[in-house]
Amino acid sequence: MSPVPTGPVDRTLLPLTARVGDDGRLSIGGYDVVELAETHGTPLFVYDEAHLRAACRDAVEAWGDGVAYATKAFLCVAMARLAHEEGMCLDVSTGGELHVALTAGVPADRLVLHGNNKSTDELAAALSVGVGRIVVDSFDEIDRIEALVADPPALEGGPEDGGPVVRWRPKVLARITPGVEVHTHEFVRTGQEDSKFGFGLASGAATRAVERLAALDAAGVVEFVGIHAHLGSQVFALEPFVQAIDVLAEFFAPLGLPELVVGGGLGVAYVNGEEAPPMAQWAGSVLRACAKAGIPDSVRVTAEPGRSIVAAAGVTLYRVGTVKDVPGHRTYVSVDGGMSDNPRPVLYGSGYEAFLPRESGADRPVPIRLVGKHCETGDVVVAEGFVPDDLAVGDVLCTPVTGAYGHSMASNYNKVPRPAVVFVADGEARTVVRRETFDDLVRLDG
Ligand code: LLP
Repeated sequence: MSPVPTGPVDRTLLPLTARVGDDGRLSIGGYDVVELAETHGTPLFVYDEAHLRAACRDAVEAWGDGVAYATKAFLCVAMARLAHEEGMCLDVSTGGELHVALTAGVPADRLVLHGNNKSTDELAAALSVGVGRIVVDSFDEIDRIEALVADPPALEGGPEDGGPVVRWRPKVLARITPGVEVHTHEFVRTGQEDSKFGFGLASGAATRAVERLAALDAAGVVEFVGIHAHLGSQVFALEPFVQAIDVLAEFFAPLGLPELVVGGGLGVAYVNGEEAPPMAQWAGSVLRACAKAGIPDSVRVTAEPGRSIVAAAGVTLYRVGTVKDVPGHRTYVSVDGGMSDNPRPVLYGSGYEAFLPRESGADRPVPIRLVGKHCETGDVVVAEGFVPDDLAVGDVLCTPVTGAYGHSMASNYNKVPRPAVVFVADGEARTVVRRETFDDLVRLDG
C-alpha cells in the first residue's frame, strides 16, 4: 500500500536515466517521453538501455560467470544481444526462445535450455547447435536425450555441410523441487513438491533422476554437471532462498557435482512504498548460505534472474481515449492498450502506478480505474489508481515497471496489434521491435 497514495510516483520505480525537467516533463535516456509517444505511437514499450546494461552487469558482478538472463521475462533480438554483450548467459525455455537467441548471434554455449516438456525437436535443435546446458526436468526427457544421443537425426545444415558443430554429449543439470514454498502468487510458485516442474525430493524422484543421469554420464551420453532449483517468481523475502539452500545442500553435497543453480525469482517493487532486495543482497544471502551449508568454493553457484533485470528498465506509454464518470462508483480512464500488452493485473491481480509524463512530479489526487480497450470488464491495467486532476483525453499516460512479462506475454486479443518496443539511450531511440500492423494480423491466415 502506498504511504502517500496521492503523491507523485516514487522516483525509485522509474528507470535509471529517468529525469524530470524543470517543466515537470519526464525524459528517459535523454529522450522526452511524451515526444517518444508522438514519434513512435502508443501503446509503446520504452526501455532504458543504460538501465538494462547496468542490471546485467550487476548480475554478473553478484553471481559471477554463468549467471543467465531468463529470457521469458522479455526477449527480442536486441535484448538477447544486450544481455550477451554484458556478459550474461541466456536461459531459454522453448524452441522459440532458443531461435531468437541464436538469431541474435548469442553463441550456443552461452545458452541454458529449460522447459518441463521439451519436445524431441527442441532437444535435437539444442543438441545440434551445442547449447551450454540442458536443465533436465522429467524422466521422459532423459529418455529423449538418451535416444537422440544414441541415434542423432540427420540435420539440415549440419557439420557435414559446413554447419554448426554438433555437441551430442550435453552438459546437463537435474531440476529439483526442494519442497520450499514461497509467498507469491500460486501461479508463479514452483518450488513446492506438488509441481509440474522438476523432480521432487520428498518422493524420491530426485534421487532416481540423479542415479540415471550419473549412469548416463558414466556411459558417455551426457556430462552430468549439476543441480537446479527454482522456487518461484516475484519473491521479496530472501529467507526462502536460504531455506532452499539448506534443503538442497544436503542432497547436493554428496553428489560432488560442480554446479548449483538457484533459479530466478527475485522480486521487484511495482508500486509506491514497495521495496525489494537488490541483486547483490540476494546473491550474498544465497552464497553465504551455501558456504554455511558446506558447499565447497569450487562449486559454481549461480542464478537465472529475469524480472529483476528488465522490469524497472521498462515503462509503457498509452494514450488516454475516454474518461467516464460512473456516479456513485468510480471514474474509468480508458487507454489504447490493456490486457493484450499487460495481462499481469488480470492474471495475478498485480498492481501498477500510472502518471502523466508531462507532469511527472505532480500530485495525483483523483482516484480512477485505468482500463484497456478490450471487450471485457476484467481488462484492467490499474484497479485503484490515482492521477493528477487535469488528466484529459489525449494525454500520454505512463505505467512504470512494465519491462518484465508484459511484452513477452502480450497477445493479439481483439486483434489489437502488439506494441512497438524502443530502446532509448543518449538521446536516441531505436525501434527494436516494430509495431504490428493490421496486415500482420492476417499474415498467418490460410
Ligand atoms: N528460471 C526459471 C526456471 C523460471 O521458471 C523462471 C521464471 C526464471 C528463472 C525467472 O524468474 P524471475 O527472475 O523472472 O522471477 N509471468 C509471471 C512470472 C512467471 C515466471 C516463470 N518462471 C509474472 O508475470 O509474474
